[in-house]
Amino acid sequence: MKTLAVCCFLLLASLSEGRHEKYEGHQLFRVRGPAAEIAALEYELDLLSAKPATRSQSGVLDAVVRLSPSEREQWLPYFEGHGLSHSLIAENLAELLRTEEARIQSSRIAAKRSGKSISWDTYYRHEEINDYLDSLGAEYPQLVTVINAGLSYEGRQIKYVRISTTRFEDLRKPVIVIDAAVHAREWVTPPVALYIIHQLVVELAAADLTEQVDWIIIPVANPDGYEYSIDEDRLWRKTRSRSHANADRCPGVDGNRNFDHHWGTVAGNANPCTIVYEGPSAFSEPEIRVIRDAVLQNLNRASLYLSLHSYGNMFLYAWGNNGTLPSNGLILHLAGVTMATAIDALALPKADPYIVGNAANVLYFTTGTSRDWTRAVGVPLTYTVELPGYEYLFEVPPEYIEQIVTETWAGIEAGARFVLTMA
Ligand SMILES: *[C@@H]1O[C@H](CO)[C@@H](O)[C@H](O)[C@H]1NC(C)=O
Repeated sequence: MKTLAVCCFLLLASLSEGRHEKYEGHQLFRVRGPAAEIAALEYELDLLSAKPATRSQSGVLDAVVRLSPSEREQWLPYFEGHGLSHSLIAENLAELLRTEEARIQSSRIAAKRSGKSISWDTYYRHEEINDYLDSLGAEYPQLVTVINAGLSYEGRQIKYVRISTTRFEDLRKPVIVIDAAVHAREWVTPPVALYIIHQLVVELAAADLTEQVDWIIIPVANPDGYEYSIDEDRLWRKTRSRSHANADRCPGVDGNRNFDHHWGTVAGNANPCTIVYEGPSAFSEPEIRVIRDAVLQNLNRASLYLSLHSYGNMFLYAWGNNGTLPSNGLILHLAGVTMATAIDALALPKADPYIVGNAANVLYFTTGTSRDWTRAVGVPLTYTVELPGYEYLFEVPPEYIEQIVTETWAGIEAGARFVLTMA
């Protein structure tokens, strides 16, 4: 049986060879400049990340962008003309992706050989993750309820778990909601979600938190995009829906611009061909409605919401739409710093310390985000969390997964304890 699984994985892998060819000759550049200039690139190019250029100086961002050979002809002169300094960080993206894939293939084989139901040194497919959730539901029925929350646009079952010692019936307990892989290519986020589940359920690593908090954890919020990023296009970010104009050429919606908070107020987000397309209407995406409903069903008790993203080492809070702070801004900052400090204490020496701050001040304005929407409907503590990428961007090698899941769990624990002190 095990041999069979290994043989078929290899077969699948060889069948899909060549899918990185579309990135042959694409290069990655670090671009530095004023926040507004960097933000504008998001509407034109594939912006892989942005973060403050230095910790002391605000308003200047470092971004990583991907440029095809023809984009280079247009954009390198543009950067120069606009005072944006730039440097090459990857010569050939296709090569980088082939290296990543080879590493992941061997990590999958090793993980299968180990015979463990899950290990923290490889990446899993959506089906495997769903199966793991179901197996936890079967093994820990008193603690774990697997919710079949609905189908993705392409018909995949979106599952999440509720973890509760009181079947979600004790209305005095706070609820913590965590989602991952809203952005498909951010592969390190599902392992972090799965590890939190594992610590709460299997290890009982913080039994008081399993006991005193009700948890909702959605490990793969955007399964269509996630699978597409494995099989077809490693850098795919959006959903795979085709319910909008121009969807044949430019399918998919940015799930983290699809929430109903200042949705539809920025022209750039209305273009389906950008990586930040907000969709034909707020909550047009079934995947995003799953998150919406999980939050709304527990609105009275929802105390902390974390959307796991990759990468950049940041806890970002509202309001992203205008850069002002919600009424509980101080508490938001304090809880964010508490989580970030717990993570930094365990981080690798080469990791950048976490930055905690208002999303628009740290980076730039955004609309339709889950962080702002959840805050606006009344969840007190809500964050976009950018996990570490080190020098690997989204291509976090499997051998770093354990480090990232372990340190992030320390942050989650600290966040949950913060919530309990507020109650
Ligand atoms: C900023 O946006 C928030 C959220 O919509 C809103 O409550 C607040 O009034 C806005 N502040 C300003 C100064 O526009």
